[in-house]
Amino acid sequence: MTRRTRTWIVAAISAAILLGGNALGGTARAQEKAVTNPVAGNPAAIQEGASLFRANCSPCHGLNAQGGGRGPDLTAGRWVHGSSDAAIFGTITRGVPGTEMPANGFEDSETWAIIAYVRSLTPAKSGAVSGDRARGEKIFSQTAGCSTCHMVQGRGGVLGPDLSRVGEARSVPYLIDSIREPSKELSSGMLDPNNHYGLPLVYDTVTVVTAGGEKIVGVAKNEDAFSIQLLDTSQRLQLFLKKDLKEVTHERKSLMPAYTEQMLKPADLQDLVAYLESLRGE
Ligand code: HEC
Ligand code: HEC
Repeated sequence: MTRRTRTWIVAAISAAILLGGNALGGTARAQEKAVTNPVAGNPAAIQEGASLFRANCSPCHGLNAQGGGRGPDLTAGRWVHGSSDAAIFGTITRGVPGTEMPANGFEDSETWAIIAYVRSLTPAKSGAVSGDRARGEKIFSQTAGCSTCHMVQGRGGVLGPDLSRVGEARSVPYLIDSIREPSKELSSGMLDPNNHYGLPLVYDTVTVVTAGGEKIVGVAKNEDAFSIQLLDTSQRLQLFLKKDLKEVTHERKSLMPAYTEQMLKPADLQDLVAYLESLRGE
């Protein structure tokens, strides 16, 4: 191609953009406005989006999309390139030319899942999860028995952490993992390089076997070379001297049962997560 032809082609393209650009841009923008995320607030999509995000986006935007060394915070609600679902879809697909933000070749459903995930993180916006909160509360305190171990606003058990503000402190994917696979975060927590070795886990499940052969399971509250204090599964605090015990085993897994799909149907999980997500203190 001669230099002249190339100049001509560039000129023709520029003219086309100048002439048609406005009209085209207008239609495209109108179309973008009309499109909304078909999986908004869907817990399964949010979870899929979280793992796609972890693999593809977190190196720049940080593990929880709160910003990393190379990309901005996506949870702050500031959208330089447009805040509608369609605009964010466009940014993810086409990238931001001239910056490090790359174009991506996801399936549409994957891009929507990522957007559902990112939206679920927006801290100021509660109610990002669709689901029946009132039903979720019933499941929490009655059907699934969560409140036997967890306190919410002063009511419930003490074997697990108080969940009165859990919706503020934790993301939706974290909540889902906590329910479906409670031991997952525990084990990764133990490998966390920021967690100094030898620092006891707060909810360390321990089994002790007494001299008489009795087995007691609980959460370790205090332990030193000579004694261990357990909050047992009936939520009684018991003190044992190690010399009186046959065995002390740190289970390295959560005392919380994994709520499988048989125990907690996906629709129930959705209502439960909607409830937990709404817990933001008073
Ligand atoms: C190599 C680094 C990098 C990767 C990987 C990356 N981004 Fe970005 N992203 C950026 C940078 C830098 C910007 C800011 C662009 C600018 O200057 O406007 C950005 C901007 C964005 C924006 C626009 C924010 C706004 O204010 O409108 C969105 C949305 C976004 N990224 C989502 C993603 C998603 C989702 C992924 C993964 C699929 C991803 N990014 C992967 C670096 C990255
Ligand atoms: C037998 C007691 C027990 C029951 C029943 C129980 N949990 Fe837990 N839960 C725990 C313990 C102990 C932990 C802390 C260790 C861990 O992370 O798994 C925990 C952790 C959690 C966390 C993570 C909190 C955080 O901020 O890290 C959430 C969320 C949670 N449980 C929700 C539930 C829900 C919802 C139910 C009912 C479906 C439930 N739990 C039933 C004992 C229980």
